[in-house]
Amino acid sequence: MSGSFHPQFHRSFTELGLSSIVAISEEVRRLEGTGRSIVKFQRGDLNFATPQYVRDALVASLGRGRTNYPKSGGEPNFIAAVQAYHAEEGVQLEKSQIVCVHGGQEGLQLAFGLFRGKKVLGFSPFWPCLTGNIFPYTETEFHTLELEETSRGITFDANRLEDALKKVDLFYFNSPHNPTGKVFTRDETKLIDQLCRKHGVLIISDEPYDQILFDGVKHTSMLEFENETTIVVLTMSKSFAATGLRAGYVICRDPYVCDLFSRADYSQTAGVATPIQDAYAVALTDQANRDAWLTSLRAELQQRRDLLWNELSPAFPGLVKPQGAFYFFPNVRHLAAPQVNDVDSHLLKLFLDNDVAIIPGGTFGKEGYVRISFAATSAEQARIGGQKFAEVVRSTVSDPV
Ligand SMILES: Cc1ncc(COP(=O)(O)O)c(C=O)c1O
Repeated sequence: MSGSFHPQFHRSFTELGLSSIVAISEEVRRLEGTGRSIVKFQRGDLNFATPQYVRDALVASLGRGRTNYPKSGGEPNFIAAVQAYHAEEGVQLEKSQIVCVHGGQEGLQLAFGLFRGKKVLGFSPFWPCLTGNIFPYTETEFHTLELEETSRGITFDANRLEDALKKVDLFYFNSPHNPTGKVFTRDETKLIDQLCRKHGVLIISDEPYDQILFDGVKHTSMLEFENETTIVVLTMSKSFAATGLRAGYVICRDPYVCDLFSRADYSQTAGVATPIQDAYAVALTDQANRDAWLTSLRAELQQRRDLLWNELSPAFPGLVKPQGAFYFFPNVRHLAAPQVNDVDSHLLKLFLDNDVAIIPGGTFGKEGYVRISFAATSAEQARIGGQKFAEVVRSTVSDPV
């Protein structure tokens, strides 16, 4: 077939990436085919099914024959459920301030698409889908400010943030944070909101892990600050172990923004499948089932985190303990000799050779680090994987390359 028309393709398509996480997972599958047993720390996808009461609601909706076009912007029952759910947290929203979308990814694509071509600032490290997919697709120019590791944990320098905000149109905020597991405090979140207001910078707040929290830590949503120029993107993917049952929603205090998002979502997808919206309306409004599920989800993930922590922390003085999401992000730069050019490939191979799959930090904008996800391993696998990981660190340090 001739490729003579390829040069005419738009770069917002030709520059799209395919996640390195997928490539690493394929390599893991290949290795397992040769009889190896690999600890899968690479995936950010929970190894549970969506809770039964939500699956039942999906089937019931199908049983009622709810298979017509969905209402643009979201089915009334879904929108009402989202409204009631946030009201429980003390956040009052109008229905016109909520739009149903196909998960966080579509929500972010719409949010950045509204500001196509503008300059955005975000903290580094960051979620790789932004630079691989969302920013090329929306032709957004991305600038980063490094998060800093201090004795008080991971934080940012407010003066440097303020300087950087003067040069951009938008700020991308993500808490709980992928890949560090940091949950930004209320003071930090409020300060970011204030600095953005001061410099006329709009906020896109990506909060997919809002329910994945440990040690009783509270998540502060940007919604709380009632900023008209903030767009908050939320998803069912993580809270309901439902990455394949795609739905989420976008909230903006300015209803005109939501009206535009409704039309954009209608233009490109004609809306999230009606039975999926019905299922999530039940997921959010059946408080007893919802709270029991979220409590057990957090307990299981906290157990995995603690087992990993017990194995990893002796090998890493200063390792940061995640308070949310399901990731550790340790610095292992010292495991590659200074002359190693491709640190990411070196670290990937080093751990894979020892039956542990991780994602190298360059993918997140921070070479020398690796992301360990405890989303897809059982507690026992997390413990064994932590042991193996720490063993690689100890043996490589005592026998430098
Ligand atoms: C930081 C961040 N934002 C957004 C998403 C999007 O999630 P989804 O599109 O599955 O709702 C993810 C998923 O891993 C994520 O880590």
